[in-house]
Amino acid sequence: MTNPSPLPPIKAIAFDAYATLFDVYCMEALAEEYFPSQGKALTVLWRHKQVEYTRIRTMSGRFKTFWELTRDALIFAAAQLELPMNDSQRQHLMNQYACLRPFPENQATLETLVAMDMPLAILSNGTQPMLDIAVKFNGMNHLFAHILSADTVQKFKTAPEVYQLAVDAFALPKNEILFVSANAWDACAATWFGFQTFWVNRNGQPPEQLDVAPHASGRLLSDVLAHVRGLHG
Ligand code: LAC
Repeated sequence: MTNPSPLPPIKAIAFDAYATLFDVYCMEALAEEYFPSQGKALTVLWRHKQVEYTRIRTMSGRFKTFWELTRDALIFAAAQLELPMNDSQRQHLMNQYACLRPFPENQATLETLVAMDMPLAILSNGTQPMLDIAVKFNGMNHLFAHILSADTVQKFKTAPEVYQLAVDAFALPKNEILFVSANAWDACAATWFGFQTFWVNRNGQPPEQLDVAPHASGRLLSDVLAHVRGLHG
């Protein structure tokens, strides 16, 4: 999908974290161990409620950190599925957030972009400690010029104030920054904000019906490379 208006060259890239850089469904194995045949349902509902709570809290001006609302979402999801989750299981599932793994192609893609002298950032709803720990755990510190958390503005995406963090950090015009997300709603809202955008459509989802579309899309994070190279001619 290509935007008809001419776009300036990309000078920096900001990445969403969860589901884009880090696989949030990898805790399914632990969930499955605790609740046989319900692991997938729990992780999918957990993620769904987590995102829903970010929106409800932002719309209502009731900020709570992403860590806290992620725990709340887990408690809800287990209750909805009638799973008898004890405190220890809940804590262990939450602790998985400290050791999320990146998707297989991510490290090489990010290394390649850095080798192209492209400044990179993470721009996420995650708390600063959650992001710092995940980046450090995966040995990715050297890849990012900025790790930007919604904590700073006490609002979650899709609030424009969160996207603005990348503009301020890079000190670049919005349309010279490429924002990459595997969450279609995030890529769409970032397009509204004024970024160039790339949607990593890992699961072949249909496009959102929001009267806006990301500037480009692909199936893997590595597809960003061809996009960036194409734009750079
Ligand atoms: C994030 C969520 C939206 O990292 O994936 O911001």
